[in-house]
Amino acid sequence: MGRELSTSDALRQSTPAVLFGETRGWSYFDGPSGTQMVSGCIEAMEGYLRTGVSNRHGFSPAGDQTEEMVGRAREQLGIFLGATDHHIVFGQNMTSLAFSLAHALARGHEGGSVAVSELEHRGNVDPWLQAFSDHGASERWITVDPATLELSRVDIAALGDEADLRLVAVTAASNAVGVRPELVTLGRIAHERGAVFVVDGVHATPHAAPPVDEIGADIFLFSGYKLYGPHIGVAAIRRELAERLVAYKVLPAPGTGAEKFETGSQNHVAIAGLLGTLDALATLAGSAGGGGARATIAALEEHERALADGIADTLAGCKGVRVFRGAAPAGGWAPTVAFDVEGATPQQCADRLRREGLFVTCGDFYATPLAQRLGVSRSGGWVRVGVAGYTTGHEVSRLVGAVQALAAGR
Ligand SMILES: Cc1ncc(COP(=O)(O)O)c(C=O)c1O
Repeated sequence: MGRELSTSDALRQSTPAVLFGETRGWSYFDGPSGTQMVSGCIEAMEGYLRTGVSNRHGFSPAGDQTEEMVGRAREQLGIFLGATDHHIVFGQNMTSLAFSLAHALARGHEGGSVAVSELEHRGNVDPWLQAFSDHGASERWITVDPATLELSRVDIAALGDEADLRLVAVTAASNAVGVRPELVTLGRIAHERGAVFVVDGVHATPHAAPPVDEIGADIFLFSGYKLYGPHIGVAAIRRELAERLVAYKVLPAPGTGAEKFETGSQNHVAIAGLLGTLDALATLAGSAGGGGARATIAALEEHERALADGIADTLAGCKGVRVFRGAAPAGGWAPTVAFDVEGATPQQCADRLRREGLFVTCGDFYATPLAQRLGVSRSGGWVRVGVAGYTTGHEVSRLVGAVQALAAGR
């Protein structure tokens, strides 16, 4: 009788580009920049294309299949995200959705303040700061303690004294160093002040994001291409807030529900692919739909954490390597490890690892406030290693060995 595959092995076997890379000795540690697609995603896109595409409300079987598919994708994504009280809105990517929502949120009210944190990717900073500053709002920064990488409790508590706090935007996990802030308190303070609580779930969602209802997010954003799926952005928006907002849109387009934020025609092929991704992930848990996909992500969490902790611990003990991790933060870590190597720029490290078929990323990853706070902006940022659900222990050993050799000048 054959050995039963672990969830990680089963995911790997379902990800053709990873298997293709394996035959060439390649290992993808660049998941935080985008993961490889599962076959269920590719097949769902192909199936939709082969059986008939349509714009919305089309008068054909292709139109019927499009309505059914988009409706099911919204429903299953709501279940996957644990966002029962929210509309699921599609967009080009997280950043575009944030800009469009920021304009709708900012209009019709002058002044006040907007809070963002130093852990953010600029996609969860500039949309809010720019749109609200056009309406006279000022910015508040929740700083990061460079030793622990946790958000300052003093800055968080100070938000409770803001007279006209309009929005608090925080990530569910840093895309640079992986730390996960504790979100429930932030959400409570935002709501006590009457502010909208926005959570950037792009980095956290592929590694088990907290359920949207549980953290009290009014808006939760993520991107399909980090979750073994296609390039498409998703926003879960609390229904009551969505109905209150006046979206920037063409006048004849729907003025209620999710569709009022979906300007123009959507990328239905990508929506089909994202639904196929959820179904494929669910199958690995012997289940179906968004709930099954969530179960698979949860089943992968321990595997990913063990590999990432192993990388961080081994590299931290390696002379000349500086790992950017503090002592156990309250919210834990996403399986992402940032480091630099004495005597080599992050770019040189990434180039050298690439020559060995080990694909990592380098730079500031648009997490510029943290790069500045930790003093790595001028030295080219970090080398970033992302563990994905399909990463193996063998790949990690190869990576760690290569970094050790690099640091030893071999
Ligand atoms: C944490 C985080 N937020 C936002 C973004 C922007 O996402 P998108 O490319 O979908 O606009 C990224 C992309 O890397 C990210 O890692």
